[in-house]
Amino acid sequence: MQNSQENTTTTTNLSSEIAESKSSEFWQLGTDRVRRIGFGAKRLAGSAQADGVEVRERAAALLRRVVELGVNHIDTAAFYPSYGGAGQTSFESLDWANDVIWSALAPYPKDLVIATKVGPTPLGLARPDELRGLVEADLRALGVDCLDLVYLRQMRLDSIAEHFGVLAELQTKGLIRQLGISNVRVHHLHEAREIAPVVAVQNRYSVGFGRVNDEILQLCGELGIAFIPFFAVTAESREAGGVPDSDPVQQIAARHGATEAQVRLAWTLSRGPHVLAIPGTSSRHHLEQNLEAGNLTLTPEDLTTLNALTD
Ligand SMILES: NC(=O)c1ccc[n+]([C@@H]2O[C@H](COP(=O)([O-])OP(=O)(O)OC[C@H]3O[C@@H](n4cnc5c(N)ncnc54)[C@H](OP(=O)(O)O)[C@@H]3O)[C@@H](O)[C@H]2O)c1
Repeated sequence: MQNSQENTTTTTNLSSEIAESKSSEFWQLGTDRVRRIGFGAKRLAGSAQADGVEVRERAAALLRRVVELGVNHIDTAAFYPSYGGAGQTSFESLDWANDVIWSALAPYPKDLVIATKVGPTPLGLARPDELRGLVEADLRALGVDCLDLVYLRQMRLDSIAEHFGVLAELQTKGLIRQLGISNVRVHHLHEAREIAPVVAVQNRYSVGFGRVNDEILQLCGELGIAFIPFFAVTAESREAGGVPDSDPVQQIAARHGATEAQVRLAWTLSRGPHVLAIPGTSSRHHLEQNLEAGNLTLTPEDLTTLNALTD
């Protein structure tokens, strides 16, 4: 992350050890080498509403632990945390997560990639002419001159050309370093790549979700683009959060002495070296467990069972 002040590396000995011992756990995200298991900021406040000093301090401490453990890819948005029931989202407090990220981590470690998303607003999808304002708000909230990675998080557009074109222009102006797209189909990826390089696609994907994103996941692998699933842990529980009950997942977890969340994450990572994870949590214990999912090797039988749940 390019700080607006001089860069300072705050990587600890512990995180360098992790980085050295797990070089195979990385992916080249465009110009950046990121650990395949990152961190999603949507759940930073947990079930608490994002007000109050205590929630904020706990979230800041968690973020510092994220970085201390060697995670160098944080996924955020101005509209995090957001809550809601299945299929609905309410934006509680704009810029809360970004503000906590800034206060906990700036000046940022040099190798930290902070990915943001623009598009959704409380009134629906932003118009193309509104995107610059959203990008500038992210720059201000995160305290940087240039955003590492910005996704166009689209909503039900058949063509994303106009919206993505605005972000590509902001990239040429130096406000954005790399671009991604989210909530998209294969034809959107082709369309975007005609306009500017895409380094990441972020779509919903999990055990049990079905095969609708298999084609774009595979295409991303062929093109050297990261595929970054959201809801990999919470799956069908979606906005409500938590880990859904599943006997087969529970049985596999028990055989490995692992948690169900770890099995779900390990399955995600098994889908290809370009598939990253950004589990969201408000819990230090869950954070540490999620990072351990990278060490869980599922057997061919486990994968057959989990794949069948997903068909
Ligand atoms: N592009 C998009 O449209 C979009 C949409 C949604 C999300 N996202 C991004 O994707 C990230 C991941 O999605 P998500 O956070 O919504 O869902 P998720 O990572 O699939 O699951 C998060 C939920 O699982 C729980 N959890 C996490 N780790 C756990 C563990 N080890 N054991 C038990 N429970 C665990 C969390 O609760 P605890 O707090 O109790 O751990 C939280 O309720 C988000 O943070 C966000 O950055 C993007």
